[in-house]
Amino acid sequence: MLGERERKEIARLWERKLRQDELNLPQAERHRNLEPPSAEFICSLAAGIGAKRILEIGGSSGLSTIALAAAARQVSGRVISFEKEPTRQAEARQTITSLDLAHFVEFVLGDAGSALERVGEFDFVLIDCEKEDYIRFFDMLRLPAGGIVVADNIISHSLTDYVAHVRSRPEVESQTLPVGKGLEVTRFKLPSNPGRSDRA
Ligand SMILES: C[S@@+](CC[C@H](N)C(=O)[O-])C[C@H]1O[C@@H](n2cnc3c(N)ncnc32)[C@H](O)[C@@H]1O
Repeated sequence: MLGERERKEIARLWERKLRQDELNLPQAERHRNLEPPSAEFICSLAAGIGAKRILEIGGSSGLSTIALAAAARQVSGRVISFEKEPTRQAEARQTITSLDLAHFVEFVLGDAGSALERVGEFDFVLIDCEKEDYIRFFDMLRLPAGGIVVADNIISHSLTDYVAHVRSRPEVESQTLPVGKGLEVTRFKLPSNPGRSDRA
């Protein structure tokens, strides 16, 4: 779970986002942060599966980075955060440092499409970038059995193509959860246990 300091910082970022929405600022001047309940959820989920190798695609100003770094701290793991906007990433870096979480995060500036070609396997991935890239980036990921990919904005943006795409893969099981703007939680299956029954 998040600690109180992280929760407070997330609340501050979220309130700023809501103020920007109210002012109807142009999209480029608005922060499109993850909703606080989603941040709480991904922190618990990543820490709960003991994810040591965590990736986020679309770190922006760092709300989700706080959640993932808090998870990494709990399991002695590490987060790689991809973001293409330098000012957004600079802000995230500052926030993460102020929360004493810098040790757990590596910030990578640039297009995730090229960066993904150079990285290895991850236990937990958050996809929160431009919606037209979700399928392409998902297909570039490598996760072990038990690894989890969470994609945001599934309900708010009707990402039915992405949902159908991940669910067509036989090696995963996947569900949309009505948390925040809708999270698709996709888990790479563990080898089946012949002794296990799914019946109650
Ligand atoms: C919805 S925001 C992410 C919000 C962030 N997860 C948070 O909780 O604050 C999407 C971000 O993805 C970044 N982005 C979009 N496409 C990208 C790409 N191909 N590579 C890296 N970053 C990308 C955008 O610059 C933007 O900051």
